Amino acid sequence: MAGPMQMYLYVHDSILRAVAGYEQTAKALDRDDAAGVAAFGAELDWFHTMVKAHEHAEEQVLFPALEARYVHVAESYAFDHDDFEPHVFDGIDEALAGLGRASSNGERVDAAELLYRQAVALHEHMRLHITKENELLISKVEKELDVDEQVHLAATMAGLFEPPLMGALVGWMYDGQVAQDREGMVRFLMRALPAEPFGGIAAMLAARDPGAWADMQRRVPELVAPA
Ligand SMILES: [Fe+2]
Ligand SMILES: [Fe+2]
Repeated sequence: MAGPMQMYLYVHDSILRAVAGYEQTAKALDRDDAAGVAAFGAELDWFHTMVKAHEHAEEQVLFPALEARYVHVAESYAFDHDDFEPHVFDGIDEALAGLGRASSNGERVDAAELLYRQAVALHEHMRLHITKENELLISKVEKELDVDEQVHLAATMAGLFEPPLMGALVGWMYDGQVAQDREGMVRFLMRALPAEPFGGIAAMLAARDPGAWADMQRRVPELVAPA
């Protein structure tokens, strides 16, 4: 059943899908294709920015709410965010910088190998961290907090995202989602947001993929066509 934390779980799904894709991209990357390497670097930069905002919201809102009921339960999750994860992203940045400045094939091979190793590390780190959040933390939230508290928690976390970053996040998620999750996310946002901001998001999603949006409007009759 889609509860108040559903959007948070969709974010987790999107992160997991992305890191699995980054591992494949890094494995197949043509290290001599400067434009392809730059595009992958830009995607990873965006992903890092979004993940930091997601984790900031967890540390400001979700973890304190849990700590009020389960002492010390959240600290190992913040440790993942603040200790292990920067190590992984630093390695990605080092590899991308190495690819950018490599002056020989040997240097490019070394940097591309480092990028692949770090992409594998990022995938495994996120898989473990997010699976624990989903299985261990969210089950406690759903058990201990009533629906109104969960609604407040989810809204407070979402409110920490600046609107441009929230719009970019929703668009990025939508692009990668299967149709069922797209519909679930749109239905969630339609319920959670006032009409005007939802209308802006709907117009943004419709413009990304008009054919998919026409299909969405058939499956979600309440969805009014954006102006
Ligand atoms: Fe986290
Ligand atoms: Fe998370």
